[in-house]
Amino acid sequence: MALHVVDHPLLRDILTRLRDRATPCDDFRILSNRISLLLVAEATRDIPTVAGTVETPLATADASRVAVRVVAVPVLRAGLGMLGAFLDLVPSAHVGYFGLERDETTAVARRYYEKVPKNLQDAVVFLLDPMLATGGSAAMAVEGLQGMGARRVRLVSIVAAPEGVRHLQACAQDVEIYTAALDRGLDERKYIVPGLGDFGDRLYGT
Ligand code: PRP
Ligand code: URA
Repeated sequence: MALHVVDHPLLRDILTRLRDRATPCDDFRILSNRISLLLVAEATRDIPTVAGTVETPLATADASRVAVRVVAVPVLRAGLGMLGAFLDLVPSAHVGYFGLERDETTAVARRYYEKVPKNLQDAVVFLLDPMLATGGSAAMAVEGLQGMGARRVRLVSIVAAPEGVRHLQACAQDVEIYTAALDRGLDERKYIVPGLGDFGDRLYGT
């Protein structure tokens, strides 16, 4: 399973501001959208395209069009902070949702909602979840998607912990991870360190 730690000076700048505890909720939303644009651009770099032509006002030009069904699946709640950017870049994408929530004491994820498009076999499925901590949530979502037939799944995250990467590698095959940072590890509450705190809380001001 491939791990892509995406590096770009703008991405590093945005991530720094997301990490900053002084960044207020409204800025946090804007920055989440902005960093997701850069990550999604990278995660879609090799999706299938078909060559053709297009008529400009002056002449015929070579064209390239996306030639695969793309499905985006944000994990509620925090993944919603990445969906707008995804749809800006891939407006034709179909969208599914997984509602997952970690138990505050055990950090074990529980699934409370699921609505995903059918016929995932031929689609490239992008799971959007900004935090890969223990990997429990991502593993549950990937398992769900593969159980529905998905063969090509990519996780787009913003911050990952080595523990989460290892867990996902151990229990889900053929999943590619795109992230802006591989952090040091988890603390005793299973939060990513240094991380950026609770993404959902910072995104929604809870
Ligand atoms: C966060 C985050 C991931 C999960 C990662 O969601 O968005 O889904 O934790 O942790 P894990 O890798 O240890 O499973 P949370 O459960 O806090 O729900 P929320 O997005 O609704 O706040
Ligand atoms: N979920 C978050 O939002 N942040 C973490 O550090 C871990 C899980």
